[in-house]
Amino acid sequence: MGEINQAECQNARGKYVVITGATSGIGLAAAQELAARGANLGIVARNAAKANEIADKLRAASGNRITVDVFIANMSSQQSIRRAADEILAKCPRIDILINNAGAMFVDHKLTEDGLEMSWAVNHIAPFLLTTLLLDKLMLSEHARVITTSSHGHKMARKGIRFDDLNGERCFGFWGKMKGGPNFRYGETKLANILFTAELAKRLQGTNVDAYCFDPGLVDTNFNQDNGRLARMTMAVMKRFSRTPEKGAETLVWLADTDAKNLESGRYYADKQMTTPSEQAGSMEAAKKLWEVTEEQIRIS
Ligand SMILES: NC(=O)c1ccc[n+]([C@@H]2O[C@H](COP(=O)([O-])OP(=O)(O)OC[C@H]3O[C@@H](n4cnc5c(N)ncnc54)[C@H](OP(=O)(O)O)[C@@H]3O)[C@@H](O)[C@H]2O)c1
Repeated sequence: MGEINQAECQNARGKYVVITGATSGIGLAAAQELAARGANLGIVARNAAKANEIADKLRAASGNRITVDVFIANMSSQQSIRRAADEILAKCPRIDILINNAGAMFVDHKLTEDGLEMSWAVNHIAPFLLTTLLLDKLMLSEHARVITTSSHGHKMARKGIRFDDLNGERCFGFWGKMKGGPNFRYGETKLANILFTAELAKRLQGTNVDAYCFDPGLVDTNFNQDNGRLARMTMAVMKRFSRTPEKGAETLVWLADTDAKNLESGRYYADKQMTTPSEQAGSMEAAKKLWEVTEEQIRIS
């Protein structure tokens, strides 16, 4: 991550950070940097062996000065998220920062065990559910933050959230539901991250919990490696223009660590600056509607 600017390091030391998607890419780089800055971590991951190995390394690198807990959850399953949240609540006396970073792109249309489209479930429902389940505990922190990894890819959702097609039955990728091509559905989920953050911040006004989201840029990670040969070839070409995971994690670490006076709750950031997202991402009407339909989706699934 390069030189640490001591003036920027203010908040993470001694804080308890729950982070998803810390077993690879941007999340792993962020976890390493936050651990180096003295944060205690709760890693939420689907792969226990991978997560435990990372936890051991993080503890060892800190000279055992920080605690690193592992909680197992598959972000596509609401039952699994609820179980992990129960474990987090039972184990952690306090949560200061929640980082919703786990995410993926699926070029095939598939449904989760809850009957929801997979990318919607992993990228939007999971952050929403985990945040709402942990909110009371976040409220116990002196000043808590919820940070969600969005993407410049939210701009692919030019028509906004398709509330009449939430399972992506009619519109999914560039060629309908077929494999390959620009993934509009992914764009919709990343737009949902921005709308969720804006509405969360609005609902938390006057409390001690703030919400931010960010675009990490184009980052060389394991992202989009499970979508067949065409996707892997595309990512190999894009690698040339990509940032390292450490660079991709910089804004995330900054959002977790910088003084709150440098930040505005509810906003979207890129390269450590508040940035204006797409027009669709600025609609508070859509943000409110998204919150309401998501509440339904976590109730009925
Ligand atoms: N890479 C980019 O250019 C880019 C650009 C903009 C935004 N983003 C966003 O950045 C975030 C991190 O992605 P990345 O690029 O770092 O990709 P990555 O290397 O593939 O990391 C994704 C992380 O999410 C976890 N994850 C995925 N699906 C999961 C599930 N169902 N349950 C639990 N954990 C799951 C992965 O766990 P495993 O280790 O078990 O696979 C991994 O830890 C995502 O939200 C992505 O949308 C990435």
